[in-house]
Amino acid sequence: MTESAPVNRPLRALLVGAGGMGRGWLRTIRAYDEVELVGVADLNVATAKAALDEAGASEVPVGQTLEELADAVAPDFVVDVTIPEAHHPVTMEALRRGLPVLGEKPLAATLTEALELTAAAQAYDRLFMVSQSRRYNGHLFAYRRQLLQLGRLGVLTAEFFKAPHFGGFRDAMDHPLVLDMAIHAFDSARFLLDADPVSVYCEEYNPPWSWYAGDAATTAIFELSGGLRYVYTGSWCSPGQETSWNASWRASGEHGTARWDGDGPPTLEIVEGREAAPNSDDPSVDPHPGIAGSLREFVAALRTGSTPMGTARDNVMSLAMVHAAIASAKAGGRVHLADILEQAYTQARAQATGPVADALAGWTSVSPPG
Ligand SMILES: NC(=O)c1ccc[n+]([C@@H]2O[C@H](COP(=O)([O-])OP(=O)(O)OC[C@H]3O[C@@H](n4cnc5c(N)ncnc54)[C@H](O)[C@@H]3O)[C@@H](O)[C@H]2O)c1
Repeated sequence: MTESAPVNRPLRALLVGAGGMGRGWLRTIRAYDEVELVGVADLNVATAKAALDEAGASEVPVGQTLEELADAVAPDFVVDVTIPEAHHPVTMEALRRGLPVLGEKPLAATLTEALELTAAAQAYDRLFMVSQSRRYNGHLFAYRRQLLQLGRLGVLTAEFFKAPHFGGFRDAMDHPLVLDMAIHAFDSARFLLDADPVSVYCEEYNPPWSWYAGDAATTAIFELSGGLRYVYTGSWCSPGQETSWNASWRASGEHGTARWDGDGPPTLEIVEGREAAPNSDDPSVDPHPGIAGSLREFVAALRTGSTPMGTARDNVMSLAMVHAAIASAKAGGRVHLADILEQAYTQARAQATGPVADALAGWTSVSPPG
């Protein structure tokens, strides 16, 4: 990737999507002096205007689309906070224009679109990073260091039990928990274990009292490289003794156990007669929390050429976990991620055109090249 971000001034950000999460991004961008908000696009211009008025930034130009604003405001990069179905067209257009993109999760609405966008970042030689905001958490980093001390790991579990009444699209969508929320825990597990998911067996179901149309509860058992298991159990209609939004975690290894309740500091027990395994993780690393952390990492990557967490080619594996889990629940059996990726790759090659098709054709495996 050959980024060439100017070093002597704040980077110019164009925000696309000013809904619930877009407003959070707007505040975060404005609060960071390395970045200047130069435009806000939303299909509903009144939404963009209202978000800017609320932030005391009414002077920032607004428009309906990225296309409408990009030439006029000359951004250095785009922040894509549109709905998942719009991630593909918006991010593709930005990359085609040579603009790096910091996008909200999920990478795209489908795995096929995700592979196309990953290829587009390669074809247009621009950074496309997905902001998995829950990775930017000092306790999660500390927990990762604890896991390294456990020696060889057997199993990592994450429990997620909440009972939110969102109203709106989540109540009506298929797979609301797995598609909209579990990706955070799946992605955190990849971060914690630094291992690749191989296969999954998943069941989805909807408790009788559920207020969701789609299945709001799930259990997924992943096998990762090296035989390690990751078990996720969650429900979005589970009132009482709710877990953290970050889930509640337990890791069992040969020297002991480490737990994290998702909110406070994690705890480690190395059993008597065993010693913590040595590790080289830097204990001083403590990221800025949430989307402020991913924005900082993205800007640093543009300025220095460093590789951030959440590049599209890395994040596509977290999305593959989601789609493999759904495929497993539908099929009633274990699904290999390589098969899911192969299908998506075949579809992506069939529908991509121009430089994106060329980039896809050059991949020697279904996983994007590093
Ligand atoms: N990281 C997190 O914790 C977190 C939390 C909430 C939402 N999200 C993600 O953020 C994204 C946005 O979610 P939200 O809750 O803000 O949704 P939302 O529906 O409230 O807002 C989306 C906005 O995008 C606009 N939009 C749609 N298509 C567009 C296009 N082509 N061009 C310009 N504007 C367009 C819509 O008009 C709307 O205002 C989703 O991908 C969601 O998964 C992440």
